Amino acid sequence: MPRTLITSAIPYINGIKHLGNLVGSQLPADLYARYCRARGHEVMFICATDEHGTPAELAAAKAGKPVAEYCAEMWQVQKDLADGFRLSFDHFGRSSSPQNHRLTQHFAGRLDAAGLIDERTSEQVYSVADGRFLPDRYIEGTCPNCGFEDARGDQCDNCGKLLDPTDLIEPRSTVSGATDLEVRETKHLFLRQSQLKDRLDQWIDSQEGWPVLTTSIAKKWLHDGDGLQDRGITRDLDWGIPVRKGDAPWPGMEGKVFYVWFDAPIEYIAGTAEWADATGGDWERWWRTDKGADDVRYVQFMGKDNVPFHTLSFPATLLGSGEPWKTVDYLKSLNYLNYDGGQFSTSRGRGVFMDQALDVLPSDYWRWWLLSRAPESSDTEFTWEAFQTDVNKDLADVLGNFVSRVTKFCRSKFGETVPEGGTPGAPEAALIARLSEGLATYERHMDAIEIRKAAGALRALWVAGNEYLQDAAPWSTFKTEPEHAAMQIRLALNLIRLYAVLSRPFIPDAAAAMLRAMGTEDDGWPDDVSAALAVLAPGHAFEVPEVLFSKITDAQREEWATRFAGKRE
Ligand code: MF3
Ligand code: ZN
Repeated sequence: MPRTLITSAIPYINGIKHLGNLVGSQLPADLYARYCRARGHEVMFICATDEHGTPAELAAAKAGKPVAEYCAEMWQVQKDLADGFRLSFDHFGRSSSPQNHRLTQHFAGRLDAAGLIDERTSEQVYSVADGRFLPDRYIEGTCPNCGFEDARGDQCDNCGKLLDPTDLIEPRSTVSGATDLEVRETKHLFLRQSQLKDRLDQWIDSQEGWPVLTTSIAKKWLHDGDGLQDRGITRDLDWGIPVRKGDAPWPGMEGKVFYVWFDAPIEYIAGTAEWADATGGDWERWWRTDKGADDVRYVQFMGKDNVPFHTLSFPATLLGSGEPWKTVDYLKSLNYLNYDGGQFSTSRGRGVFMDQALDVLPSDYWRWWLLSRAPESSDTEFTWEAFQTDVNKDLADVLGNFVSRVTKFCRSKFGETVPEGGTPGAPEAALIARLSEGLATYERHMDAIEIRKAAGALRALWVAGNEYLQDAAPWSTFKTEPEHAAMQIRLALNLIRLYAVLSRPFIPDAAAAMLRAMGTEDDGWPDDVSAALAVLAPGHAFEVPEVLFSKITDAQREEWATRFAGKRE
């Protein structure tokens, strides 16, 4: 049995994600995980929340909660939304887990033992009143360039000038408002990525068939970007994973934590360990090539901005440890989804967020649209017009209408069982040939994780059934040759089951409803289309399902466009 490890970039804990975030990694990863399972792979699909760093601390402060409590609550919110979108993680972990603490400290210890860690001293702003160093975003003051009074330590939001905290006039702490700030020396650990440059270069060259987007980003960072400069992997913060060398303290590093981007990808492994601890499973056979992971295929999903971290930094951690860790085999990166003439924006509340989407329509509508328009080769744009058009056409007119016509016609003429009689002829043979070819195309695109092409191939399969039904016209053959109509409808009912199986990775709820209506649990992936179209035998009972997909009206579209144009409350 092929074994496939799938990870999705782990979303930041601070706040609910928008549809652009969703289609950037979690949703395509789920599509692929469901497909692999349907094809009989043993799958381990891991995601988690990314809980450390200043954004988490700031969001907790804004919510007026201790950061640990804030993260626990937001994890539950994100978990419930993931369930709402039917994201089929084997485990949805937390980067703050004890497992991740242990593994992150382990990796740091190994990297140090391999001579890949340097200690360097730098200067940073310290707030005496707060008793802590302040990251750039925790310092505000007057912009030396334009006089704006609320410029941040790293940048002025008014004139856009990039700043150093020491440039600010009358700087103050955003934690407390304190102004008794001083510049103090602080020590940090640096990962000597530059030492690993040749190994990473070779490792990237040895990857077969990575998408062009991925390889070009990686190579650019490796050769002319600054991605391979040594990288600070610690911070002066309270919230995070304490700096230790494995089990031992790290002298001089007391009170410091690892940088969020150091521990976050390690959570892919730790999340699997969390799964193992919860279920009694074995995580090492997914991650250690000396413990069975050499036959695992590891596929990562992420937005394009995450590519350097996954092609360089995380591999540097894994390779640098000198231990036999599984590294990624195929990395699927996605572009951005824009929202109606601009960008989705979390800070400005622009666009549709996951909770709002589910308030408006069930998840399958969103899944289909987002996946069939996934931003693969370029950025794409969500517009309410396109959403309405695609949902009404693909889901309501093509798939939904097929299911409803076939089941209702059968019920009225033959009753709610699969009718018997009649002999298939040339049109049926032609349909089977067309479906067989279409299925092969669909599988090829799914295997290659070409999401839009796969959606197109699936749609073509739905269209083939509709066209067959239109030409066969059982409603007229019934008048003169009822047995022939019975054969046509029997085929069409079987086609509903087959559509359920094939469509499930995209629209799992509708697929489950279709299988339920067909009174079957046989959801095996078809080896052979004609055998798959004979699963429901004459006499088998079925039901007419509720409407699978309702059309979006113009009034709804306008209402939603208006509702989501403004700022989220
Ligand atoms: N939280 C990051 C983001 O949303 C992704 C982290 S991916 C990981 O951009 F590899 F670090 F886990
Ligand atoms: Zn300014």
